[in-house]
Amino acid sequence: MSKMKKNDFFKSQLGVVLAAAGSAVGLGNLWAFPYKAGANGGGIFILMYLFFALCLGLPVMISEFIIGKNASNSSSIRMFDRIPTENEKRPVFFKSIGILGCISSIMVASFYAIIAGWSFEYLLMGITEGYSAFAQGPEYASVYFGSLVTNFELSTIYGVTFIVLTLCISFFGINAGIEKMSKVLMPLLVVILILLLVNGVLSGGFAKTVNFLIFPSLTSFDGTKVNIASAALTAMSQAFFSLSLGMAGMITYGSYMPKESNVISTSLKIVTFDTLVAFLAGFAIFPIVFAQGLDPAQGTGLVFNSLTVCFANLKLGRLLGILTFSLLLIAAITSLVSMLETVISAVIGGTKIERKGVVVVIGLFVILGSVLCQPALGLSASFLEFAADNLMDQFDQLTMNMFIPFTSLLTVLFVGFRIRKDLVISEFRSQSLGNKFYFYIRFVLPIILCFVMFIGLKDLFT
Ligand code: TRP
Repeated sequence: MSKMKKNDFFKSQLGVVLAAAGSAVGLGNLWAFPYKAGANGGGIFILMYLFFALCLGLPVMISEFIIGKNASNSSSIRMFDRIPTENEKRPVFFKSIGILGCISSIMVASFYAIIAGWSFEYLLMGITEGYSAFAQGPEYASVYFGSLVTNFELSTIYGVTFIVLTLCISFFGINAGIEKMSKVLMPLLVVILILLLVNGVLSGGFAKTVNFLIFPSLTSFDGTKVNIASAALTAMSQAFFSLSLGMAGMITYGSYMPKESNVISTSLKIVTFDTLVAFLAGFAIFPIVFAQGLDPAQGTGLVFNSLTVCFANLKLGRLLGILTFSLLLIAAITSLVSMLETVISAVIGGTKIERKGVVVVIGLFVILGSVLCQPALGLSASFLEFAADNLMDQFDQLTMNMFIPFTSLLTVLFVGFRIRKDLVISEFRSQSLGNKFYFYIRFVLPIILCFVMFIGLKDLFT
């Protein structure tokens, strides 16, 4: 049994929901979702995303919470030694859920902090000088962004500062750090998002946005045909990433849940909230892009290149910019805290070393990871060259296409075939619903996930 301190739990049900929602809502929703939707046909992408979030994401999230809640140790690696299982059998390879989860968390945190660091730069710019220089147009914006990305020192300083900020929260632990932070930052996030949304509705591009995001069409904005297979794969990996699944994150937060928490309603709330935030981010961002006549399908630069040009041209642009980049940073910090927490709690639960020491050591690891991932450094792992040609994209593709679906597969297999059946069924209001879920995660979901990994693997090599 671990020696979890009494205060090292979430104290309230609201705290659980807010912390888990904070984990889920991140750069994935605000930065990646809009540009991926934009590049993959808009409405048709959103439709597929909804389907995957509900049919695959929700049951995997429920499974992760069930594992965490029934663990007596919050180390996502150690916990598998003791969880009550059918006939007490625990094949040791299920520990790889936690091990892979920690590896993915470090990999994702490394590149996540870099992107957050860039948002940090744009926030400071808004505060100190404003965005007027970007009135020169999208070419200037993309040259500026390019020069930030290739400036090793600057990009590293911002990334590392962001990691250190995150570590300050992790330092205070679960209740005094994560739960308190979530209770302040999540409502703030909602307020900023609503302000940006109101701006979106009032700006000239709202009707076009509705057309683009709501009505599914097989033709992209620029007239090209949407590649359905690749859009589907992107929508699916995006749904898993956005819901923080397959990285033992919700397993870890599940282990901090008060025992009376309801896993199903918590999961439903988080999936709904996360999806809503992603959609609303689309409705906040695209009207600005459309109103200025810029390209919605331009990819990763959407927030950094297009929006800054818009901020330069709009009356309240500077304020909007400051709000937008604050929103990105708030969302990013609550997600990064959660990623690091998976690794921190795995080490604390496995070694009984004091939290503060663990936070420092893990922090140094992530700092190292993020320095190595800096695109300016130009590093790439030669054995990963099939994936991409720089370390940041290699980590991104490896985790998104392989580790996350594989860890999710092991997770549902563990819940479907190992953990005591009554512990699963008792989470549901009615036994028959529980039985249906049980059947689904045993025989349907694993097949779908295998299929996903197969496609992901093919995609990685072509
Ligand atoms: N869900 C986060 C986002 O949308 C990122 C994320 C992916 C994450 N996996 C995670 C956060 C695991 C915490 C834990 O940006």
